[in-house]
Amino acid sequence: MQVAHTAAALRAALAGKTGTAFVPTMGNLHAGHVSLVELAKQHGQPVVASIFVNPLQFGAGEDFERYPRTLDADCDRLAAAGCDLVFAPDVAELYPVAQTFTVQPPDALANDLCGAFRPGHFAGVATVVLKLFNLVQPRVAVFGKKDFQQLFVIRALVEQFNLPIEIVAGDTLREPDGLAMSSRNAYLGTSERIQGAQLQRELAAVVTAVEAGERDFDALAASAARHLKMAGWRVDYVALRDAATLQAPTPASNRLVVLGAAWLGNTRLIDNLDFSLPAASP
Ligand code: PAJ
Repeated sequence: MQVAHTAAALRAALAGKTGTAFVPTMGNLHAGHVSLVELAKQHGQPVVASIFVNPLQFGAGEDFERYPRTLDADCDRLAAAGCDLVFAPDVAELYPVAQTFTVQPPDALANDLCGAFRPGHFAGVATVVLKLFNLVQPRVAVFGKKDFQQLFVIRALVEQFNLPIEIVAGDTLREPDGLAMSSRNAYLGTSERIQGAQLQRELAAVVTAVEAGERDFDALAASAARHLKMAGWRVDYVALRDAATLQAPTPASNRLVVLGAAWLGNTRLIDNLDFSLPAASP
């Protein structure tokens, strides 16, 4: 497996390659990331992963500085998973001058859900992903459903800028107790780690209620948020949406997603579950 730290080295390594499958990451890789590499292998060759903690997508006071950076261990994992090339630039390589051109997702998307609590986050994501796409020039790029709104932003980016890239979505990998794998789980103390699985349980309870016929979506989301707050979480949001539009469900919605973001101490966790809405009985 090759490791390129510069755009020039990346370009040289990829010269003449047309079927690249790309997995962008911020590193500190876990089995969820590895599953995306495995999915990428089924869609193209060579498989390229990037590791870059993107300052543009972190707000003031967020965890950019303390975000775990574990390049050597990450490269070992990627090599074992059959990744062909890692692109691991430093900040000066990707942003040699201040990034004054940026990709701004529409307000309705950029300021919704996570965007309402992380101003500028999705513009930072869309901007770095466009840069990475231009550098790697993949045929396919793989993103996790764990970051459901991010996946939605990337699909819109590709569609609206006519990028010739197929976006493939990977399922969320979870710990045995249901906690979605995340690099940020490393911030959790022992009791927080145990409590962390509650976020997924509350979202699953919403799914179960909808599947049982409950249709007051706002009340279901509010009750999940209330349970989390009672257990000591600081809740950013719990929301039920149409999985295809990310808007509030309509009578025509047939796939839904319940999304949540909440804090345990200084750690912000997000999760979501998407599911089919049973057809209304006549
Ligand atoms: P990062 O958080 O490192 O995630 C990289 C990719 O792994 C994303 O597509 C994410 O959805 C996916 N992922 C995270 N946890 C997962 C899990 N438990 N199971 C499956 N996939 C999972 O997302 C980013 O980095 C950045 O925003 C990035 C797109 C790289 C732009 O900087």
